[in-house]
Amino acid sequence: MQALPELGEEEFTLWRRLLEERTGIHLVPQQKAFLQSQLTIRTRELGNISFGQYYDSLHEGLASVVEWSTLVDRLVVKETSFFRHMPTFDFIRDYINQRIAAGSLADSFDVWSVGCATGEEPYTLAMIVNECFETAALDSYWGVTGMDISMPALNFARQGIYSRRKLDLVPPPFRERYFRDHDQLRSQIVPAMRERVCFTNGNVIELKKMPLVKMDIISCNNMLIYFRRWRRRKILNSLAERMKKGGILVIGLGEIVDWEHPLLEPVADDSVQAYVCVK
Ligand SMILES: C[S@@+](CC[C@H](N)C(=O)[O-])C[C@H]1O[C@@H](n2cnc3c(N)ncnc32)[C@H](O)[C@@H]1O
Repeated sequence: MQALPELGEEEFTLWRRLLEERTGIHLVPQQKAFLQSQLTIRTRELGNISFGQYYDSLHEGLASVVEWSTLVDRLVVKETSFFRHMPTFDFIRDYINQRIAAGSLADSFDVWSVGCATGEEPYTLAMIVNECFETAALDSYWGVTGMDISMPALNFARQGIYSRRKLDLVPPPFRERYFRDHDQLRSQIVPAMRERVCFTNGNVIELKKMPLVKMDIISCNNMLIYFRRWRRRKILNSLAERMKKGGILVIGLGEIVDWEHPLLEPVADDSVQAYVCVK
């Protein structure tokens, strides 16, 4: 077995800085071994180049953009599941039903899953919106956008094909309705739901580069934990600017503790962390 090339402390600092500057992700010292093994795998795939040569190659020319995207995919945590935190989705369902009952929905209902990984979260949101709209016999436009920095994750998400194991948390009536057998081991999201969800590549620390579309629901779960606290606040401030009045922002429980925004009011419910846009 070949020994792993050593990633020195200075080199580790350089790589951490690069990753944080470009993605916001802050690696802690304990993640050095993880970074070293990912760099080793990639530099071997590229013909055993050194970490230094690889670092330089990420700074020059068009090819560096493609290579950076490959590396980022290897470094991000893409762990996710359908209906990952049930209280959050119950809260979202109740919120949509309240808006419908109040007759306060505009012509289009727009949902954004920020850091959507392989698509389980945006598809879960789509199933919930669909149930609410159908029960209320509403036929106005609605759609879900999933955004992520990882291109391979988005390509996977667009197919909507998942191993049957991944469906364990999906409530049986949703499983019946929204999935079809794809082959012996996998199921696919039905076309009607795939048509409602679009996936786009984007970097949450560069939101200013993206068109300013206002949203009814912004869901940003299990991503902020990888960023420093000042950056979490900055990201949430930009998300707040993209909410429609009456819209909600939902984040993972405890992902930020001391953040407030003049446009938003926190929701008084201990089982979720959510904010309503009141202005
Ligand atoms: C742990 S997953 C969370 C998936 C889903 N939101 C959930 O709660 O199950 C975090 C995702 O955030 C994405 N991510 C990390 N940094 C990002 C950035 N700067 N811009 C956009 N997405 C990013 C990763 O690629 C990864 O897919």
